[in-house]
Amino acid sequence: MPADRVVLVTGASSGIGWAAALAFAAQGARVIAVARRTERLAALAESAAALPGVILPVTADVTRAEDMAHVVERAQEAWGRLDVLVANAGIGQRGSLVNAPWADLEVVLRTNIDGVLHSVRAAVPLMRQGGRGGHILLISSISGAAPAPFAAVYGASKSFVNGLGRALRGELRRDHIRVTTFLVGQTHTEFAQARRGQPGRVAAWLPTMSAETVARRIVWAVDHPRSVVVLRLIDRAFLLAATLTPGLLDHLQWRVYR
Ligand SMILES: NC(=O)c1ccc[n+]([C@@H]2O[C@H](COP(=O)([O-])OP(=O)(O)OC[C@H]3O[C@@H](n4cnc5c(N)ncnc54)[C@H](OP(=O)(O)O)[C@@H]3O)[C@@H](O)[C@H]2O)c1
Repeated sequence: MPADRVVLVTGASSGIGWAAALAFAAQGARVIAVARRTERLAALAESAAALPGVILPVTADVTRAEDMAHVVERAQEAWGRLDVLVANAGIGQRGSLVNAPWADLEVVLRTNIDGVLHSVRAAVPLMRQGGRGGHILLISSISGAAPAPFAAVYGASKSFVNGLGRALRGELRRDHIRVTTFLVGQTHTEFAQARRGQPGRVAAWLPTMSAETVARRIVWAVDHPRSVVVLRLIDRAFLLAATLTPGLLDHLQWRVYR
């Protein structure tokens, strides 16, 4: 893909999305950066001022289909095409499934499931135009492969994303739109603070990546298409345990999360 590719990043006001927007702009890309916090997006666009690419901030809520349709219209007006979608916006929840306020669970479902669906459904028609194809990167989690107790709805929402990625890979093949699912492990961002239920708590003993590390792999994956990307050995070990020794992993997760 050319250096001046047009890239849409959701959840770009912090963490992985922020770092990915800058990493694409550093490569010369034209980036549409989406989130709800307008002032953060303005600061992001300013941080890219000296980079070869450009960041166009667009305030939008991924849970609203009409917002995502508007975002894609802005991409079309500005650059006439869309090459890459990074469906990254997401939120966590920690606590009992039964005792949690429904609003906490619903925001996770609306953001992590509806938000990804609205982003994909808005982006694909513009990617199809001109027949150049495109690339969709879904930012999921290793916990989607083995959802943890007391984080059930978050884990299950990421299982949904993993299933969606798999199905879409075949569905969009004729359009030359590739789909890559990122199974991300623990990363240092605002994610734990933003989490519903019990914010702030992290597994301090687990190695933590920087958002920039994840962002570099996201940019890399656009030129090295893979179905699934797992960044670290420890995350691969987690996924192996989920397949080979699910009972043991469930017990360990219960001890960590209870
Ligand atoms: N950090 C980790 O350990 C980790 C591990 C595995 C997977 N992940 C995944 O990585 C992705 C990015 O998370 P992060 O770690 O970078 O967390 P983060 O720093 O909290 O960033 C989340 C981003 O999502 C945006 N967002 C949330 N709700 C939104 C909505 N309704 N509409 C538009 N944007 C919305 C937030 O922006 P606004 O609040 O401004 O809207 C923010 O920019 C998530 O999908 C998460 O599940 C993270």
